[in-house]
Amino acid sequence: MTNTLLVTGGAGFIGQNLVHQLLAVDPGRRIVVLDALTYAANPSSLDPHIRSGRIRFVHADIGQLDEVRAVFEAETIEAVAHLAAESHVDRSISGPDLFLSTNVTGTHNLLKCALADWQRRGRMETARFLHVSTDEVFGDLTPDEPAFTESSPYRPSSPYSATKAASDHLARAYHRTYGLPVIVTNCSNNYGAYQHPEKLIPLMIIHALEGKPLPIYGDGSNIRDWLYVEDHCKALLLALTRGTVGETYNIGGGVEKTNLAIVRLICAALDERFAKSEVLSQRFAKCPAASGTSCSTLISFVKDRPGHDRRYAINPDFAKQALGYAPNETFASGLMKTVDWYLDNESWWRTALSTDFSEWIRLNYAARQPLARPGVQVKTAE
Ligand code: NAD
Ligand code: DAU
Repeated sequence: MTNTLLVTGGAGFIGQNLVHQLLAVDPGRRIVVLDALTYAANPSSLDPHIRSGRIRFVHADIGQLDEVRAVFEAETIEAVAHLAAESHVDRSISGPDLFLSTNVTGTHNLLKCALADWQRRGRMETARFLHVSTDEVFGDLTPDEPAFTESSPYRPSSPYSATKAASDHLARAYHRTYGLPVIVTNCSNNYGAYQHPEKLIPLMIIHALEGKPLPIYGDGSNIRDWLYVEDHCKALLLALTRGTVGETYNIGGGVEKTNLAIVRLICAALDERFAKSEVLSQRFAKCPAASGTSCSTLISFVKDRPGHDRRYAINPDFAKQALGYAPNETFASGLMKTVDWYLDNESWWRTALSTDFSEWIRLNYAARQPLARPGVQVKTAE
């Protein structure tokens, strides 16, 4: 038996981290990465493993049924880790259509092909379909509400989260109706290496290095629950190997922070690194820290995201108890690793900036006039 795992979206942020972890912990496993290589993909870290034959890379669009079917025909897939998605909330607000074809139709194509293949090969008992989803399907919480559990109602707010919710429902429907061996995970905000610069943490690190304003939506009091990406990947592998078919696992870091607090911590981490390194000051001369000024002087409050969810928080107790899941990193250690990774991997993020990124920045941020000048403190609910 080849024991082949198909990782969709394996050229993206979490997918790439998952593949690296698999290569380290399960050397006997054959991996097929399927990815459409959208603007969000930057798979250079996989190249050596593709060249060595450890990974087969398939350039395909999950929105195209024939492309998905061809992978199941060419390979003996025993498990699917489905991460391919359009993943950015702001892009779903300015252009929702693609989110439907990838997140809904694409997921459906994968479910359909997996079902047909595993029924034909008599693999329905042993195969697994891990559907990787988000806490955003639950909508948002007030400051005092308890964290989301596996039985929290679905109340998605954005086109992104609505399409992820639809894909979760389809995955569960394929389990209940056809017996497809589906496992669903819903995770909170990830951060770490290989995250595209459009997302909060890398955007703020890179803007600070380039001496650009740090655009905080609204008053910065929205709360996210942060998890280091390698801890998420650890939980995904546990769900795949120990999870019960038909079950849902909520995965989170238990680290609730306001966006303003996150940006201040990033600024403090950069200030500290620059204070200890003359080389950094030469490499990133536009960063305020290069001349001894705090990066926090770049903080700029801009017009809010429409429909902006106030607070996310995950209750991970069930996953901890059922899978033996526990995160390794604290937020302080994970954030420092992340800041150091972006400092050490400038050529990686410069590649991401060279795709359509400047056009995206113009489109998303031009309409968001600063509410206060950089460096001016505003009162927040933090
Ligand atoms: P990402 O945007 O970094 O990567 C997505 C990958 O999917 C990219 O490589 C892209 O090329 C690929 N892709 C997009 N459309 C495709 C298509 N039509 N066919 C094939 N491949 C396609 O996303 P991410 O942050 O790594 O998220 C991965 C998954 O995890 C998503 O399903 C997301 O909803 C979920 N998730 C993300 C987070 C987070 O904080 N990033 C948290 C919880 C859940
Ligand atoms: O909760 C899980 C979700 O986390 C995933 O499902 C999504 O794929 C992932 O993108 C992420 O969604 P968010 O919308 O929470 O992430 P983002 O990095 O876009 O924004 C995080 C918070 O920071 C959010 O409250 C909006 C705010 N923000 C974001 C950007 C890009 C800003 O204040 N300024 C910014 O420039």
